[in-house]
Amino acid sequence: MSIVVTGATGHLGRHVVEQLLDRVPAEQVTAVVRSAAKAADLAGRGVRIAVADYNDPATFDGLFAAGDKVLLISGNEFDKGRVGQHRVVIDAAKAAGVALLAYTSAPGSLTAALADDHRGTEEALLGSGVPYTLLRNGWYHENYTENLAPVLEHDAVLAAAGEGRISSASRADYAAAAVAVLTGEGHENKTYELGGDEAWSFAEYAAELSRQTGREIVYNAVTPEALTGILAGAGVPGPMAAVLAGLDVSIEKGELVVDSGDLSRLAGRPATPIAEAVAAALKG
Ligand SMILES: NC(=O)c1ccc[n+]([C@@H]2O[C@H](COP(=O)([O-])OP(=O)(O)OC[C@H]3O[C@@H](n4cnc5c(N)ncnc54)[C@H](OP(=O)(O)O)[C@@H]3O)[C@@H](O)[C@H]2O)c1
Repeated sequence: MSIVVTGATGHLGRHVVEQLLDRVPAEQVTAVVRSAAKAADLAGRGVRIAVADYNDPATFDGLFAAGDKVLLISGNEFDKGRVGQHRVVIDAAKAAGVALLAYTSAPGSLTAALADDHRGTEEALLGSGVPYTLLRNGWYHENYTENLAPVLEHDAVLAAAGEGRISSASRADYAAAAVAVLTGEGHENKTYELGGDEAWSFAEYAAELSRQTGREIVYNAVTPEALTGILAGAGVPGPMAAVLAGLDVSIEKGELVVDSGDLSRLAGRPATPIAEAVAAALKG
């Protein structure tokens, strides 16, 4: 029996594996990766490595064993039919008779196009009959704090979210919730709405950046159409620019506010405040 993490060489996956290694012996952890070379450091620490690709069902044959607890980290190939990719993992998990399949989804309140693949995957998972946990992850702090270069260049935060608020949390926080589910009991067939403890607005985010940099950084609220144009002008492919602007529309409607308290309850500690993530990013 193993705790199996897909997407283990991704940003979130690495946090999950790292935190699992604090809790269980390395030989009980399996990292599913596309590149063994990228996972060499994990192998060196005793983690079992399985090479598989969501696009190739045969690579998942025999990968899982009865009783495994699996974390399916959603893929990032938006043009390849992610629901079909995720179904490959769900089918393999069902065939093996895993004890639990946890899936990193999106908040139940999110109606933006980006949520469609998550709703489709949730449906496939629930329809499979495999014991599941839906980890409906809210937004990452890092979506913003890892993209500070243009903000600092123009002394402006640009968004089409009006006065909407976001309950973001750090990837490490979401990983802590996932690890609690994978190493704990009683999470079968549960849905967790995960987000930070304090929601913030872009005006507050700009004010926090101003406070920490000593500069005057403003929030420049634009329309979704203007944002789409600006992103496209900066080289983001047209359809993706529209998807990202659509997300801001969802933020303005409050769809990324999560007030369940599930994340800090599962992690057993408060979520990381956005101010802390800003400080870490500015330190570089
Ligand atoms: N909540 C949020 O704010 C937010 C933001 C961005 C993304 N997400 C979602 O959350 C997921 C995890 O976030 P992250 O920051 O860890 O993203 P990430 O760093 O891009 O990691 C994605 C992981 O998925 C793996 N993957 C992609 N396609 C695959 C395939 N065909 N077969 C097997 N593995 C595949 C990647 O493998 P490699 O390591 O080989 O590349 C990588 O490990 C993302 O993939 C995305 O679905 C959420």
